[in-house]
Amino acid sequence: MRPRIVCSGMAALDRAYELTALPDQPGKFIARGFREVGGGMAATAAVAVAHLGGSAAWCGRLGRDAVGATLMAKLAAHGVDTRGATLAEGGQSPTAGILVDPKGERILAVFPGAGLPEDAPVEPHWLDGAGAVLADPRWISGAERLFALAAARGLPRVLDAETSPDGVLARLAKLADHVVFSERGLAEFAGTPDAEAGLARVAPRLDATVAVTLGERGSLWWRDGAALRVPAPRVAARDTTGCGDVFHGAYALALAERMTVPEAARFATAAAALKAANGEGWDGMPDRDAVEALLREGWA
Ligand SMILES: Nc1ncnc2c1ncn2[C@@H]1O[C@H](COP(=O)(O)OP(=O)(O)OP(=O)(O)O)[C@@H](O)[C@H]1O
Ligand SMILES: [Mg+2]
Repeated sequence: MRPRIVCSGMAALDRAYELTALPDQPGKFIARGFREVGGGMAATAAVAVAHLGGSAAWCGRLGRDAVGATLMAKLAAHGVDTRGATLAEGGQSPTAGILVDPKGERILAVFPGAGLPEDAPVEPHWLDGAGAVLADPRWISGAERLFALAAARGLPRVLDAETSPDGVLARLAKLADHVVFSERGLAEFAGTPDAEAGLARVAPRLDATVAVTLGERGSLWWRDGAALRVPAPRVAARDTTGCGDVFHGAYALALAERMTVPEAARFATAAAALKAANGEGWDGMPDRDAVEALLREGWA
């Protein structure tokens, strides 16, 4: 049986306009290309899980609008179970407007959505057959309820500890048993930009496996009172947007498959590196065979 991973949090539609140069003043600029791609931490993690051979479910809130319909269709096309989605009447779905230049430098305007109910349902039966859950901090009450339901069933609970408004990560981190920070998320939570010092500061306060992802520098894991580095494979990166999301999804799937933490960390590292090399948003997700081939090949 494919392990089921329930992912709660953000789904968004990213609209990227390709310009020859980023504007330095207001005006009208003609784009050379346009892409509309799925994004959002939990939704991207769910898409990654589905491509890696897991059974993925996404729960979160969208507006009952055209963007919401597009995202629901994209998630379904990638094999993600969206029965846990709430489509809010009169709500607006999250979107991002992105200006990108040929080198990949970007200006982002992120709209987190509006009129999306904080108390949208999280149903216990969504966890039937689940092997792990994952939450991002963009739907706080959803993450709290998902983690509580998962704890009652003894399931691994992975928090994507991204940069968030004050106090949010503190609330959620104590409900998770795997807290994997982004570099900025940890810097803000720990109050220091130094990742190793940050881990040393926060790990004793959390009853969880604690780690931080550092882009092409790999990730650091707090193990037995010291920081252990898992290097990332060297790849020609085409697009690193969402690598963290893929990393978290793959890590949760690996835990559900009963890999050890070091094994799960390497599995996630391989999946995220292949995502960076593939580019193409949700359409560039690595499959299981590619990840296993990279794991067999190995990297320093
Ligand atoms: N250029 C890269 N080459 C190889 N692996 C990468 C690269 N960028 C990211 N990764 C892998 O993905 C993991 C997560 O990336 P990163 O730390 O950038 O996440 P993030 O800051 O949460 O970004 P986002 O939320 O946009 O995905 C890294 O720890 C690494 O294993
Ligand atoms: Mg991230």
